[in-house]
Amino acid sequence: MTHVIVLGNEKGGSGKSTAAMHVVVALLKGGAKVAAIDLDMRQRSLSRYLENRRAFIDLTNSDLVLPEAPRVEPSSLDSRENAWREESERLGETFSRLADCDFVVIDCPGADTHLSRLAHAHADTIVTPLNDSFVDFDLLARIDPETGQVLGPSLYSEMVWQARKRRAMSGVKGGIDWVVMRNRLSSTRANNKKHMGEKLEDLAGRIGFRLARGFGDRVIYRELFPKGLTLLDLGGKDAPIRLSTMSHVTARLEIRSLIATLNLPKPMAQSHGERGGEGKSDRDVAAA
Ligand SMILES: Nc1ncnc2c1ncn2[C@@H]1O[C@H](COP(=O)(O)OP(=O)(O)O)[C@@H](O)[C@H]1O
Ligand SMILES: [Mg+2]
Repeated sequence: MTHVIVLGNEKGGSGKSTAAMHVVVALLKGGAKVAAIDLDMRQRSLSRYLENRRAFIDLTNSDLVLPEAPRVEPSSLDSRENAWREESERLGETFSRLADCDFVVIDCPGADTHLSRLAHAHADTIVTPLNDSFVDFDLLARIDPETGQVLGPSLYSEMVWQARKRRAMSGVKGGIDWVVMRNRLSSTRANNKKHMGEKLEDLAGRIGFRLARGFGDRVIYRELFPKGLTLLDLGGKDAPIRLSTMSHVTARLEIRSLIATLNLPKPMAQSHGERGGEGKSDRDVAAA
C-alpha cells in the first residue's frame, strides 16, 4: 500500500532536494507515516537537511515531525552485473522494511545512476522540478532552433518512458503519474515565463506529464536549510520561527498547491480514523 514518490531530473540544482524535503514535511504534517531516502550519495542534500533538522530539535527542544530515513548505499562490487543485482536487492529489502509507511519519498541524484533508474521504476508518482530555462527544458525535449517547435522527447523523458515500460512489464497495477513543476520562477521575466509555459503545455500532452504550478524564486528556501526547517514549519503559535513576509505566505501556498496537484492517496491511519492533523514527532516516537 506504500505510495512511492520519486523526485527526479538528471540535472543538478533544479530543486529536487528542496522539494523532497517540503513534500516529506507536508505529508508528515498531514498525519502520514513517511520515509525519506536520499539516493544522491555525493551531495547528500536531503540527508544533510534532515541532520540539520535533528540538530535543531536537540538544540531548541522543539516538537518537529521527522521521517524515517533509511540509507540505501550504492554497491561497490566490481562487476556491473553483480553491482546492479546487489543494488536491486538493497532497494527491495528497504521497501519491504518500509511496508508500513504510507509514503516513501526518494530524492534522486542529478545524474543517471542504476539506483535512480530503479527508484523511477518503483515510482507511483514522479515529481520533476525544472528551472525556468531552456537549458533545463532540453533534458525533457528537443526544440527546433529555427521554428521553436518541440521535436520530441530527450534524455530524461526517455528514462521516464523506460521506467513506465518496466513497471508495466512487472505487472504492478496502475501507471506512473508524472508531474513536472517549474521552480525558481522569476517575478520579473514575464516573457520567458510565458514562452516556457507554452512549450511545457505543448510537451505535457505529448510525453505524458501533468504540470504543477511550481515554486517562485525565494531566498527563504536557502535560509531554512541550516536549521532543517521548511516553510511548513513556520507560522502558527508554537512554530519555532514566524512567517514574516507576504512572500513566505505565498511560498507556503505554492507548496500546498503542489501537494494538492499530486493528488496522493489518503494515509492509512487517516482512512481508518486513528491519526490525523499533525504527524508524529520524534518525541511521540520516543514516548511510544
Ligand atoms: N524556489 C527556490 N528559490 C530559491 N532557491 C531555491 C529554490 N529551490 C531551490 N533553491 C536553491 O537552489 C539550489 C539547488 O536546489 P536543490 O534542491 O539542492 O536542487 P537539486 O537537489 O535538484 O540539486 C539550492 O541552493 C537551493 O537552496
Ligand atoms: Mg539534490
